Amino acid sequence: MIQGVRGAPDIVPPDGKAFWQRLEATARALLESYDYEEIRTPVFERTELFVRGIGEGTDIVEKEMYTFQDKGGESLTLRPEGTAPTVRAYLEHGRFRKGSLAKVYYVGPMFRHERPQAGRFRQFHQIGAEAIGVAGPQVDAEVIEMLDHLLRHALHLPGVLLHLNSIGDAACRPAFRERFAAYMRDRKDELCPDCHVRLEKNPLRIMDCKNGRCQAAVAGAPKAADHLCEPCRAHFVRVRDLLQAVSVPYALNDRLVRGLDYYTRTAFEFTASGLGAQNAVAGGGRYDGLIETIGGPPTPAIGFAVGMERVIHCMKQAEGAGPVPRRGIYVANADEVAARKAVEVAHDLRLAGFRAATNLEGRKLSRQLGHADGGSYLYCVILGEREMQQGEATVRDLTSGTQETVPFAELTAWFKARPAEVAAP
Ligand code: HAM
Repeated sequence: MIQGVRGAPDIVPPDGKAFWQRLEATARALLESYDYEEIRTPVFERTELFVRGIGEGTDIVEKEMYTFQDKGGESLTLRPEGTAPTVRAYLEHGRFRKGSLAKVYYVGPMFRHERPQAGRFRQFHQIGAEAIGVAGPQVDAEVIEMLDHLLRHALHLPGVLLHLNSIGDAACRPAFRERFAAYMRDRKDELCPDCHVRLEKNPLRIMDCKNGRCQAAVAGAPKAADHLCEPCRAHFVRVRDLLQAVSVPYALNDRLVRGLDYYTRTAFEFTASGLGAQNAVAGGGRYDGLIETIGGPPTPAIGFAVGMERVIHCMKQAEGAGPVPRRGIYVANADEVAARKAVEVAHDLRLAGFRAATNLEGRKLSRQLGHADGGSYLYCVILGEREMQQGEATVRDLTSGTQETVPFAELTAWFKARPAEVAAP
């Protein structure tokens, strides 16, 4: 028996319908109501895109990429995230010819070779959104408000909390980084071995080390928010003011740095309750330097990505498993002659837009009726000997147990007069 790959879980019924499709449909409708359009990029890209875009010293690029050489000898990488590919496509397709602001979203699998644990996978799924081309704080506020709308008001996740920070830009960040690194260098002995490496390569990442001693060392360190240049400070003040105007609650978190190098100014994460250590359901921020880094003209942008597995974990916890809702029509037959009619009836029902199933397993009529009831259908169309002789079907309402006779020719019309859930796909 060949097993699936560790950290790459299957999504099996009934979760597809009950959670994945619902989350995706809710998110698509909501993002489109904010005037975002879908973009789909390939699951692999040239390795260089992520190395330059995400940053050489990051965990993702150093340790987590699924990189391989294809038959032509080119180095490709399964996308660990969707921002760099979106920006690559934006540049390649004439900035989507949309005027100054392009607003796009994507849904799909991402790949990171992380150590699998609860809420952390090697193949996982994101719903992401990117607003490319405008620098003003209104864009930050709208992007964050949209994500808050999705998580809190549309999906009703429990315990949603927005952590907000500004990490400065190319003008003020390098000096802050140096100050922070100097402070940490003085406390090198208190840091874990990983943070010794971070101190050299990416000192700001020491801020989100989980080690207690490192956290204690960070506690008194300089904070990014206190070292912002005037334009970054004014930008952040305005973002916060606008968030207040649309009633988005947040907690300032001056230790939030994010794990990708491309961020500037506004950085944020949303956490939710019931997730344990991996409690970030979404993260994002401004990345005003990324487009230049990958070879485009200076272009400001901001975006986020939601981790679908984590959101669904929260939805499941909040909603419980619940009974599987009844849906569709089962067409049961008594014998070979009725089986031919059943195929025809099911075909007509499907053409009319209904969800319908027939007896493909060769079950006896009594077993079919039991299956229709236990299999959570709404109605059962029964084609027995008598029905075949009289040219009319018995239609049983499986919720109430009542039944009626309906002439074959009127079956589709009869169902069309029923509630919409019969047709629900
Ligand atoms: P990220 O914080 O790396 O950001 O990922 C966003 C979300 O994806 C996380 O908050 C988490 O919910 C989920 N996620 C990340 N890694 C895993 C994993 N191994 N298993 C399960 N879920 C995971 C980005 O990817 C940025 N591209 C977001 C962004 C868009 N920034 C600007 N635009």
